Amino acid sequence: MSSGGETIGIFGAGWVGLVTAACFADLGHRVIVRDIVPERIERLRAGEVPIYEPGLSELLERNRERMSYTLEVSDVTSEADLLFVCVGTPPTYAGDADLSAVWAVVEELPELGQEAIMIMKSTVPAGTGEKVRAALEARGLGHVGYASNPEFLAEGRAVEDFVHPDRIVIGSFEPSDGKRVGTLYDGIEAPIVYSDVASAEMIKLASNAFLATRISFINEIANVCELTGADVEQVAEGMGLDRRIGPHFLHAGIGYGGSCFPKDVTALKQLAGNSGYHFQLLSSVIEVNELQKRRVVGKLEKHLGPLAGKVIAILGLTFKPETNDMREAASIVLGSRLLAEGAEVRAWDPMAERDSYLRGARICDSILEAVTGADAAVIVTEWKQLRELASDEVRLAMRNPLIVDGRNMLDPAQVGAAGFAYECVGRPGSCAPMPAATADLDLESTPE
Ligand code: UGA
Repeated sequence: MSSGGETIGIFGAGWVGLVTAACFADLGHRVIVRDIVPERIERLRAGEVPIYEPGLSELLERNRERMSYTLEVSDVTSEADLLFVCVGTPPTYAGDADLSAVWAVVEELPELGQEAIMIMKSTVPAGTGEKVRAALEARGLGHVGYASNPEFLAEGRAVEDFVHPDRIVIGSFEPSDGKRVGTLYDGIEAPIVYSDVASAEMIKLASNAFLATRISFINEIANVCELTGADVEQVAEGMGLDRRIGPHFLHAGIGYGGSCFPKDVTALKQLAGNSGYHFQLLSSVIEVNELQKRRVVGKLEKHLGPLAGKVIAILGLTFKPETNDMREAASIVLGSRLLAEGAEVRAWDPMAERDSYLRGARICDSILEAVTGADAAVIVTEWKQLRELASDEVRLAMRNPLIVDGRNMLDPAQVGAAGFAYECVGRPGSCAPMPAATADLDLESTPE
């Protein structure tokens, strides 16, 4: 569909911006990407992809002719009148979303024609669209349309999610603006939900908050399973077959992380609070998630006693596999807790960004290096390389053959038969019951 393509501007060459740009180019549109970081633009122009996302570099390469990169706003607005905002909205200290990058885009827009539409892909609090519209009006750009078109891309499968979405959500003040944005997705088979702007903004936040709630729910069920002898995997399977419940996001583990769930759950809670409503359920979702990361410490202590001087191997640092992203990863909280207990922490991950996270831990190049001489190996991220962890080689290398499986990756019977003590999440077998965890959590000092 190359002939009927539109020209699209993308503000922000981050993960959302680049995936969106590449996928729209692949649908036949011309795409101009603008970022404020010169090095990033230079690398993109040179054909380098600054982030890891499966399929993205191939897509960028395939559509090179239709894509351009610039530091100048005017390069975008002189050619494109569909302007996607894909800038970061990280949490502030108060837990709200920091919209300064969004406001910077609004401030920088020059004169625009009647046809221009600003389209928000970044995750923003409900009500932001109204504020942007007021700011545009104040700048004499009241004729510019506005639409909220939230992204539902999961890291590691973002290209796939863009091409095969469950739904596309487009909220607009003018129905005609919404329809024009909708035509950009021609070629993608998915229902389009047209709504008002505030509802589109809320659909995004509510979806992530609901998914996080499911995870905290199944994690609490897992904790009760540990006390009652039930198996959370069987429970989740039995629950998930009920079509009203469905099977997704019922995988118990060490808690959710990443750049989206922790931020968006907190942002929705704060948004409610700032509007005068106490969103009690989300407070619990956050608290359960914090507790879940710390339960591993109790499981280690049950086998090893006090952890001072013990050598613990953390296997997997990223918040989930197939990404190098460590934002809000469970490994950070767990590693810090272990270091605070006086343990010696080793860490292995095939992709994690090796910067300032987990200062004090020794980063190892291989699983074997991490577990050699260790008193316990903790699976934090379900990298496929860890499926064979319960091997003779690993058992012989460890000082004490204990595996704590924070992702229920391994089969308890097989791990036991291989000569390891084994703890997992909400499953019996060699996982002995754990008392309910509450004691060591100081919620005052945890990010909410
Ligand atoms: C999430 C949503 O899935 C996307 O739809 C959304 O667009 C994105 O946030 C966003 O707002 O940008 P993402 O953060 O990439 O995507 O990761 P997920 O695959 O959803 O996983 C989030 C966390 O939940 C991970 O730490 C994962 O290990 C954990 N999780 C997930 C569980 O503990 N149990 C589950 O059953 C599922």
